[in-house]
Amino acid sequence: MDVTFLLNGESVEVTGAPPTRTLLDWLRETRRLTGTKEGCNEGDCGACTVMVTDARGSRAVNACILFLPQLHGKAVRTVEGIAGPGGALHPVQQAMIDHHGSQCGFCTPGFVVSMAVAHLNGDRAHDDALAGNLCRCTGYAPIVRAAEAAMQAPVPDWMTADAAALAEGAPPLPDAPETADALARLYADNPDAVLVAGATDVGLWVTKGLRDLPRPIFLNRCRDLQQITVSGNDLHIGAAVTMDRVLAAVQDRHPSYAAMLRRYGSAQVRAAATIGGNIANGSPIGDNPPALIALGATLHLRRGDSTRALPIEAFFIEYGKQDRAPGEFVTGVTIPGQPDRLRVYKLSKRFDQDISAVCGAFRIIVENGTVTEARIAFGGMAGIPKRAAAVEAALTGKPWTEATVAATFDAWEDDFTPLTDMRASAGYRLEAARAMLRRCWLEDHGQTVDVRKVSA
Ligand SMILES: Cc1cc2nc3c(=O)[nH]c(=O)nc-3n(C[C@H](O)[C@H](O)[C@H](O)COP(=O)(O)OP(=O)(O)OC[C@H]3O[C@@H](n4cnc5c(N)ncnc54)[C@H](O)[C@@H]3O)c2cc1C
Ligand code: FES
Ligand code: FES
Repeated sequence: MDVTFLLNGESVEVTGAPPTRTLLDWLRETRRLTGTKEGCNEGDCGACTVMVTDARGSRAVNACILFLPQLHGKAVRTVEGIAGPGGALHPVQQAMIDHHGSQCGFCTPGFVVSMAVAHLNGDRAHDDALAGNLCRCTGYAPIVRAAEAAMQAPVPDWMTADAAALAEGAPPLPDAPETADALARLYADNPDAVLVAGATDVGLWVTKGLRDLPRPIFLNRCRDLQQITVSGNDLHIGAAVTMDRVLAAVQDRHPSYAAMLRRYGSAQVRAAATIGGNIANGSPIGDNPPALIALGATLHLRRGDSTRALPIEAFFIEYGKQDRAPGEFVTGVTIPGQPDRLRVYKLSKRFDQDISAVCGAFRIIVENGTVTEARIAFGGMAGIPKRAAAVEAALTGKPWTEATVAATFDAWEDDFTPLTDMRASAGYRLEAARAMLRRCWLEDHGQTVDVRKVSA
């Protein structure tokens, strides 16, 4: 594949590289840009953070799980390009010096790039912006102080140059279709191909699983799959919409969903991962499906010219098996417009940047004190994201009281036989799920349930 992009302001053309060559390896081995570090090589530590700019703006992403073709037509800025011409320090670099934000320095380039992107975007939520960067020695307080201090300084000229230079666009890239029609044709003709959206799963198949992908088809240039549209009151989200955009799209409609997505991976992961990838991978611990099931969302699929739609829960058949034919792909998901009654709770060992042990979503409609409808779905409780049908039945038609919540105790075991694994034991998962329903009830009754706000 011949891939072109801007690298630290200069146009580069990469010819003949394997389509699964990661940006990190290419930067370090071919360009000797070794400021971009390899820590985990799986998206967890942020040592490899680079800035990627496209028509939607500039975002921090992890270079270790980003394949070169995903950069076609975009601009990349590594830590070497964060400093200005002649070596002028970027304000975040100066602030890191002034506030003693670096000790061994291994993590520092990644932090500096994340901070420079936040500075460029005027993003003052430093804890969120830096949750995907790990530091083993300095401690985060001086780094966050540096990020805060740098906000006083204006954005340097060179940081805005990439967006202006992108205007010309890039030639088409084979195996990176630009429309859903072209994708449908290509995939129907090559049903054994591997679709690559954000590569936050597929990237690890390569870097950790050492797998060869027979024929990747890249979705990130497919404009039709990147749309977010409102029709009537329904919200339609294209399969290739990244999680940072999903978060913004659901913020006003379903704030509890957005609050959970704020803990989905890190800023770097949310800038790459797509909602379609999170559904299509069929993971029992994907964070979107429980919320989407509770909201009664519809999933849209396409194979060649045939399209179909199904309730999203019907897509998940059993562990590792989804209702998707060879050559068929997810085009998007529709969330019906509705008054907000959604509560989503994510339980993970770490607050930030961790996969759920249990993720519960509740939509409980109460009229005149009685539960008239309940849709409850969980991740981490079965081999698939799954509805809690017995618990829903135990609630429906009953008064929305603490006693009704307590009376669902046995129903949970009718719905779920969770596994014990490294994230949680089966017993803990069941107990946590029961506690989440109680949490939902308490929240409905005005109690503070966020551990960060509870005080003795
Ligand atoms: C550091 C890190 C943290 C993470 N944190 C979380 C987290 O907090 N919560 C969570 O739920 N997940 C998390 N994940 C997992 C991952 O981000 C998600 O599963 C992600 O949504 C996958 O989307 P993607 O676009 O990157 O998919 P890809 O990796 O590109 O693809 C994933 C799978 O879906 C298929 N696919 C992609 N798009 C389509 C489509 N449109 N139609 C059909 N098939 C398709 C691919 O062929 C592949 O099988 C994390 C991953 C990493 C690396
Ligand atoms: S090397 Fe750790 S996130 Fe890339
Ligand atoms: S300064 Fe050593 S890991 Fe952060």
